Amino acid sequence: MAIRRILTIDNAADLAVLKKVSTPVEAVDADVQTLMDDMLETMYAAPGIGLAAVQIGDTRRVVVMDLGDGEPTTDAEVVDEAGEDAEANRVANPRFFVNPEILWASDEQFCYEEGCLSIPEYFDKVERPARVRVAYLDRSGARIEEEIDGLYAVCFQHELDHLNGVLFTDHLSRLKRDRAMSKVKKTMRMREDA
Ligand code: NI
Repeated sequence: MAIRRILTIDNAADLAVLKKVSTPVEAVDADVQTLMDDMLETMYAAPGIGLAAVQIGDTRRVVVMDLGDGEPTTDAEVVDEAGEDAEANRVANPRFFVNPEILWASDEQFCYEEGCLSIPEYFDKVERPARVRVAYLDRSGARIEEEIDGLYAVCFQHELDHLNGVLFTDHLSRLKRDRAMSKVKKTMRMREDA
């Protein structure tokens, strides 16, 4: 596994890639699994809860996610989050999605404050369908269909947007998008100086 550089919107070349529409994967083979492993390691290191392949410059329709909602067992790895309350002991639950799609979306909406590793340290509320019926291939290439809600549904929709060249800030007003860009430019300058 390898940690890859995450593309960010302040870099014009990165932004051009982030705007691309990703291509369907033909088969979940060893090559795709290696990509998934690199993505997961990159996401954990960031740290983040979801990552689309395009965010590391690979335009295949692949997403990884870990909402820390695994079932606690004695040998389960606890997601380490410095600075969080001890009570928020989250259990790792890596999820893999190939060619994800939305089959149905509820009229009911859900508002959540989203963030994105490609838009570091900017957060804003986005409204999306509260429940969605989704389909995808898992890490072994099996087709899964399920109805999801809550943070899982938010994250799935956010990551699927990435595969279509859409960022969460594209759901916001022009003013907020400009504010996000200024914030990210400042954040990335500070990281370079650090
Ligand atoms: Ni994102």
